[in-house]
Amino acid sequence: MCGIFAYAGNRSDASQLILHGLKLLEYRGYDSWGVAVIPRGKGEGKRGKNEIVVKKRIGKIGDANVNELPSSSFGFGHTRWATHGGVTNVNAHPHLDCFNTIAVIHNGIVENYEQLKKNLIKNGHKFQSETDSEIIAHLIEEYSKNIPFPKAVQKTFNSLEGLNAIIAINTKEEQFCAVKNGSPLVIGFGKNENFLASDAAALLPYTKQVYFLEDNQMAIVNKDKADVFDVATNRSVLIKPITLEWDIKQSHKGNYPYFMLKEIHEQPDIILEIANSRLNEAMKMAEVIKKSHGAYLVGCGSAAYVANSGVYLFSKVAKRHVNFAVASEFSYHLDFLNDKSLVIALSQSGETMDTLEAVKRAKVKGAKIGAIVNVLGSTLYRIADYKLLIGAGPEKGVASTKALIGKLSHLILIAYSLAGKGNQGKEVLIKAAASSKKLLQSTNINNIKKLAKLLKTKSHMFVIGRGLSYPTSLETALKIKEISYIHAEGLAAGELKHGPLALIEKGTPCIVFAPQDETHGANLAGAMEMKARGGYIIGISNKSHEVFDYYIQVNDALEGTIIPNIIVGQLLGYYLSVEKDLDPDKPRNLAKSVTVK
Ligand code: G6P
Repeated sequence: MCGIFAYAGNRSDASQLILHGLKLLEYRGYDSWGVAVIPRGKGEGKRGKNEIVVKKRIGKIGDANVNELPSSSFGFGHTRWATHGGVTNVNAHPHLDCFNTIAVIHNGIVENYEQLKKNLIKNGHKFQSETDSEIIAHLIEEYSKNIPFPKAVQKTFNSLEGLNAIIAINTKEEQFCAVKNGSPLVIGFGKNENFLASDAAALLPYTKQVYFLEDNQMAIVNKDKADVFDVATNRSVLIKPITLEWDIKQSHKGNYPYFMLKEIHEQPDIILEIANSRLNEAMKMAEVIKKSHGAYLVGCGSAAYVANSGVYLFSKVAKRHVNFAVASEFSYHLDFLNDKSLVIALSQSGETMDTLEAVKRAKVKGAKIGAIVNVLGSTLYRIADYKLLIGAGPEKGVASTKALIGKLSHLILIAYSLAGKGNQGKEVLIKAAASSKKLLQSTNINNIKKLAKLLKTKSHMFVIGRGLSYPTSLETALKIKEISYIHAEGLAAGELKHGPLALIEKGTPCIVFAPQDETHGANLAGAMEMKARGGYIIGISNKSHEVFDYYIQVNDALEGTIIPNIIVGQLLGYYLSVEKDLDPDKPRNLAKSVTVK
């Protein structure tokens, strides 16, 4: 979940460059940060002049600078999400050995750190922090007494239990030793300079030529080259860089106050682009589903809700049962999979640990893997047998919006292709794009802003829907929770009478999705049940109804109505967050890409 940025080259302002790299990774969420550089010229640590120089701080980078760090052309930085040890300056990365000649940054959790730490303390090592990460620096220090530095890093990595990505440096050679299993690491190739980052988006200002390190590969990277080998076999790996497709302009906020709002507004164009250019790809995936014996859609967070909507779409449009599971649960009930099964994972980042775990377990059972993923070259992209790139461009708001709509648009196209009606699917998407565009006009936005003002002091809300509006309700409730911190519960409307009605009191906000489909009447009945208990009914539909106390109009787009309906939820979450003076781009306790279990 942490951000990593490393630089080796000829520039003399490495610390500034690294801080800039970390700022590009801010969107992933973090609670502290740090930069370490080796000053120009080499030294011998405490026994000599040039030690590794570090600056670490808690909080956001904001206007902070690294001006006091010395001129350097080699160093790295890290943004931390606390796991072991509180949010303090000393617990931030990079971590040093006893002599300040070795520095380490780390993403992941060292599961056996207690035992390792005990042994290191016995051997006289002094610890500064409470983190599991610091033991890595001391272990490398210990091993490098007898073996070369890269070998010591390799041995250290092999001693760690859990899923970890580490980069280590020492003052003797200006080279990074980077190794991982689990968390992502990308090498960026420049001219007379090379980079490492946890996320390819941070490399875009410098290079589009990248290589994603595979699990259990170690890279030794200096300003001129990168050598990669397998840590288990020591065999060297021939690396073929890939070219990133994204444009640097796409990762700027432009005139929008937050990335999330910018990304919400990009959605109509993304839907149209998918409608106009992805039919062939969708047809190929439909063919794969057709041939499979049992297909499953999996994902986490918002991606799980899109996966859930797939069940309804494939049943309704293609008369085909495609199952769905929350990825973190799928690992526990996939024993029935076999070599005819197909597991399609949905993910913006392609790095969500629970999603990857599910896919890897499915693969062991012989299942084929499909991926609908936004990041080219990501772990999921590489694992998958059949891949579909979402094409939403870099998504920076922590709470997924445009990537989610991109996934959903692909599912709609695939469902119609499976029914042999690909062109009809395209038309549905064009309608959904038009309805979404209308929703994003200022009168409609003002209507949602007004609602956010009315609801911002509430502590609880309920969101109901049936059919495709059920996953819509779950996603809307998630958006409200994750960025406005108001408790919202998404429900299948039919479940109201099985308990939740007990919680509806005078004035409880009840959001009701009532699109013009087979669920319309039943959703209105749910609204009436809540109104009878005093609920304040917010209706989202193509036409108003007397049961609604507040009405948001969404033009009908057949099965594609789920798209503008989800956008209503995004906008409501966004404006509730802004009304409460929160930062919708960086919600508390949430990371963009959750790379731990
Ligand atoms: C985090 C994000 C969510 C996202 C989920 C899955 O929880 O905050 O917005 O839906 O991860 O991410 P993925 O990259 O797999 O789509």
